[in-house]
Amino acid sequence: MIELNDKQVKEIIEQYGNAVYIFNQDEFEENYKELESTFQKVYPNYHICYSYKTNYTPAICKCVKDLNGYAEVVSDMEYRLALKIGYIPQRIIFNGPVKGEYLEKHLLEGGINNIDRVEEANLICEIAKRNPNHIIKTGIRVNFDIDAGYTSRFGIDIHEIDEIIKTLTDANVIINGIHCHMSRARGIEPWKLRAKTMLSLVNKFHLDNIDYISLGSGMFGKMDPELKKQFPADAPTYEEYANEVIKPFADYYKDKEKQPLLFTEPGTTLISKYVDFLGKVIGIKKIRGNEFVLLNCSFQNLGETCQMKNLPIKRYEYGIKKTTVLNARFVGYTCLEQDVLYKGYSGDISIGDYILFGNIGGYSLVDKPPFIMPDCPMIAIKSENIKLIKRRETFEDIFNVFEFEE
Ligand SMILES: Cc1ncc(COP(=O)(O)O)c(C=O)c1O
Repeated sequence: MIELNDKQVKEIIEQYGNAVYIFNQDEFEENYKELESTFQKVYPNYHICYSYKTNYTPAICKCVKDLNGYAEVVSDMEYRLALKIGYIPQRIIFNGPVKGEYLEKHLLEGGINNIDRVEEANLICEIAKRNPNHIIKTGIRVNFDIDAGYTSRFGIDIHEIDEIIKTLTDANVIINGIHCHMSRARGIEPWKLRAKTMLSLVNKFHLDNIDYISLGSGMFGKMDPELKKQFPADAPTYEEYANEVIKPFADYYKDKEKQPLLFTEPGTTLISKYVDFLGKVIGIKKIRGNEFVLLNCSFQNLGETCQMKNLPIKRYEYGIKKTTVLNARFVGYTCLEQDVLYKGYSGDISIGDYILFGNIGGYSLVDKPPFIMPDCPMIAIKSENIKLIKRRETFEDIFNVFEFEE
């Protein structure tokens, strides 16, 4: 969580209002460099490819670009954003099950693409046929079991890879990479299995000439102690991932002529810890022995983690009339019973206090529906300078897309 002193918090409230997203750019950059250098020490051709869907705030995407990162996008909308940020197709990985018209442009300009399904492979063969003067290259997202307790719907079943390779090569499409991504399996064992399976595919299908291997993401990132203690104690560090997951690639390619680019595609891993949300306490009530603290924000501002765990919090004591609550729930402004921001708070609290919630960078503002209220502004803090990076949404932002009867 970002360390803010009273002067900074009061300045934020005064300038940007009483509910604000805060991007901690200094520590984001530090964390980015640490992840990159830890993996590059083991495999120098490793690169970070930032997952846009997790948090596509343009200022964050630009920050990744300035750090020399690639962009991972999963729709035409995200693709256009990467272009607007200044990316060239060769630095964009196009993933996802439903790509639009930008796929063709991307392939013709030599961008990185991972096929998710057979229909996409067929479409790429047609694009190659229509453009005989272009060399068309694509990667394949491979789906295999890593014992995560569910069957992922993404990518091509590992048992059907040979067929896809044949379809593509018959149409003169070059296979230049392989990709995988599995969620809900952040531990070291499933990650070791990813590395092992990807290398066995390289071997089995004689893919020694490919340009890249992308391992997706789904790693543990850094966490504040209050959040970390709610996860398994053996959550790997970057160093451990490097030694167990990246090292097998270094060993395999040690004596090979070509060492492909090796990517991971961190989203939450990279951003979650470096966005906080500042909200205000506006009500306290007790119903049949249950205590509720009402804030001026909602669970939809705080991202996916707040629905599974208690986020790290810090209270700024700006209220005057102190109350002591026991096992209280912090609740939000929506009319949904599930709008719970924090469970089991015991201690002092006042109307007028501010609560800073940490670790809200993933699937928060990008996943915030225009439900009940427009969204709050976002600021970035770098070297103690504060900059607005997303203005407050307005009534017009929400209702301009609807038709109004005269
Ligand atoms: C293909 C792909 N890459 C990367 C990510 C980001 O993963 P994480 O947020 O766990 O770092 C996702 C998230 O679902 C994904 O689907």
